[in-house]
Amino acid sequence: MRFAIFASGNGSNFQAIVESVQQQMITGELACLFCDQATAYVVERAKQLGIPYYVLEKTTQHTKSEYESQILAILKQEDIELIVLAGYMKIIGTILLEAYPNRIINLHPSLLPLFPGKQAILDAFNARVSETGITIHVVDDGVDTGPIIYQEALTIKKNESLESLERRIHQLEHQIYPQIIQSYMIKGEHKNVEKVSPIKCVR
Ligand code: GAR
Repeated sequence: MRFAIFASGNGSNFQAIVESVQQQMITGELACLFCDQATAYVVERAKQLGIPYYVLEKTTQHTKSEYESQILAILKQEDIELIVLAGYMKIIGTILLEAYPNRIINLHPSLLPLFPGKQAILDAFNARVSETGITIHVVDDGVDTGPIIYQEALTIKKNESLESLERRIHQLEHQIYPQIIQSYMIKGEHKNVEKVSPIKCVR
């Protein structure tokens, strides 16, 4: 299965996925990176790792549909079957959702439905909850909604700093997301997403 990674920023998860492909832990074929921010560090990572990449920023002249139609043309040209969001900060619209039903998955740094949005780790930290975690889910037309494939909880330590919590969340993401990508591809769950049974682990 050929897949593309979409990312907007640092790209540490992109790198973890690339390394898992190199180690053949992920057997799908990583075709390319798509990035919506020209200055994002993830583009540097793609260059260094030798992964083909496309950068296309949305301008004010683009409607969302026009922008996504251009992305879709790239994905068709690359024969992409699955889209893996890894720190992609734009909301996926109708054009891509209709072209890839159940074939777009997302990683989110909280136990959804708690703390959706762009700063989930900070929001959980500020809310002083005793646990947070990560969620991997199928993308639908909501913001950080869609059928949950996997969740893993992390206890927030007493007096833990935000930096420490961020570091532990990211470590967990790097370890777990590649495994879930692989199982989502090989189990063919994307063909029958109603049968996806959410798994929740606590560590
Ligand atoms: C990750 O923590 C990911 O879960 C989060 O962005 C970060 C990207 O880090 N995604 C979201 O918040 C999506 N709503 P990275 O660029 O180092 O992989």
